[in-house]
Amino acid sequence: MCSAHSHSTHSQIHSQPLSRSPVWQALQAQAAEMKGRSLKALFAADPQRAERFSLELPEFLLDYSKNQLDQDIFVNLLRLAEAADLAQWRGDFFAGKSINATEGRPVLHPALRGGLAEDVEIDGVSVTAQVEAELERLKEFVVLLHNGALTGYRGKRITDVVNLGVGGSHLGPQTTIEALRAHRKGDVAVHFVSNVDGTQLTDVLAGLDADSTLFIVSSKTFTTSETMTNAGSGLKWLQQAMPEADPQALLQQHFVAVTSSPDKAQQFGVLPERTFRFWDWVGGRFSLWSSIGLPIAIACGFDNFRALLDGAASMDKHFREAPLDANAPVIMALLSVWYCTFMGYPAHAVLPYEQALHMLPSYLQQADMESNGKSTTRAGVEVDYATGPLIWGQTGINGQHAFYQYLHQSPEVVPADFIGSVTPGHDLDGHHEILLANMFAQSQALMNGVDAESVSRELAAKGLSQEEIKRLTPFKVHRGGKPSNTILLKELDPRSLGALIALYEHKIFVQGVILQIFSFDQWGVELGKGLASKLEPKLASGDLADEDGSTAQLIEYYRRINGT
Ligand code: F6P
Repeated sequence: MCSAHSHSTHSQIHSQPLSRSPVWQALQAQAAEMKGRSLKALFAADPQRAERFSLELPEFLLDYSKNQLDQDIFVNLLRLAEAADLAQWRGDFFAGKSINATEGRPVLHPALRGGLAEDVEIDGVSVTAQVEAELERLKEFVVLLHNGALTGYRGKRITDVVNLGVGGSHLGPQTTIEALRAHRKGDVAVHFVSNVDGTQLTDVLAGLDADSTLFIVSSKTFTTSETMTNAGSGLKWLQQAMPEADPQALLQQHFVAVTSSPDKAQQFGVLPERTFRFWDWVGGRFSLWSSIGLPIAIACGFDNFRALLDGAASMDKHFREAPLDANAPVIMALLSVWYCTFMGYPAHAVLPYEQALHMLPSYLQQADMESNGKSTTRAGVEVDYATGPLIWGQTGINGQHAFYQYLHQSPEVVPADFIGSVTPGHDLDGHHEILLANMFAQSQALMNGVDAESVSRELAAKGLSQEEIKRLTPFKVHRGGKPSNTILLKELDPRSLGALIALYEHKIFVQGVILQIFSFDQWGVELGKGLASKLEPKLASGDLADEDGSTAQLIEYYRRINGT
């Protein structure tokens, strides 16, 4: 058993910038050279390419052969990982060292799913024991809810649960529940409210009966103003529906809290036995495996929640044990660094060909961009290279009829992840074949493009005149050479989903290690939060003396139109 919380004395924190290393320079030269090469030619030159640049894990096939990559570049990327001391960082991560150095704490989300090789003690207490005890409490609560044993103030059975939470306290649970739509259990409906825009809460509550509604206040800090405002309005709604009730009684009967600050939940009025804990060593955007996953266990059953955790643990093991050149998160991270930092492609598209994964791009936006959208190295100096990419996307089929034109024919290169599943999540004939054929066709089209000669031939075959062919050809040419990964799941189920999300989590961590930034803090979110709370009273007071001209004008306009 390792004893954690010792401050990391990691040599890398103060190490030489990697961007001065010979391997970095070599990769820069290779990037310049790769820009002139075609993916088609890379395939033609190596009949084993698809197999060489693919990895089959128990849950999925990762085909990364359609990338602007050759063996020499791959070797140098692996050298870069070694020069970044990746194996050491990975070891420190799993051993519970304080790798989140700016917040002075370990990063132990794998512990939430049995993903550590060895248990870790924090302040003398076993992490695994704490996790298991909390999971047991969660399980008991879900059983009570599913059995109809939980009732509201007037004795009516709880049938609807509203999760109030934002960021990591929302995206993980909702993305997962959507993804596991074919694995729902029980008859308790789960709803989500993340936005402080009262429209969302109003819409959700409009369809609900207060007598049978339970609120889950999901907030690591229990101070996030959006969530606490929604919680306050939820209580008012209950009070309006049950005016005879004491607010304290409503809080006890109709509220549950999930937080790492249980004392604050209790001050708010939630009972200790209705407060589920997690710990400060769980980052908000990595918290779905903790009690924050309560809505998942309610919607899909505790067994499916467990299977999700098991799937993630299997990815933890793979990440811990597989050699770097056969390690899926490492390979995906190296490719991401290759594109963003060396090839100069600042964006990355996430394109699920699975309706159930429709929220995955949003989920990964937070996981990735809140982690690696940084410009200060671990040594505290400004980076002189690009760090994490802009992550965007949506379900592939809808994207095809929206932004794929840009992917195919804009001068920009946007590397993409295509994600699909061999087994459909429905039983309608013919749909899945069309869906997968589209996914395969799109990555093929992006890779190969179509040259002027082929376009002219095709137009000639249609009987167009030479003049027309000449006029139209430039518009129909696709340069190709647009890279992508394909992740083909055997089936989208709790286990494979756990592995898929953990794959991306570890990828994000590896990127941060190589870019020499701290991936587990999020100081960039704090500035705006602080300013919003300073400006809020000014909407009423109109005291704008200290504000810049634009902000003052916006508030004045608000006050004028609002009649304040
Ligand atoms: O967006 C910033 C952030 O701190 C996230 O990291 C976190 O998931 C979210 O806010 C919600 O915070 P909390 O769970 O404390 O309400």
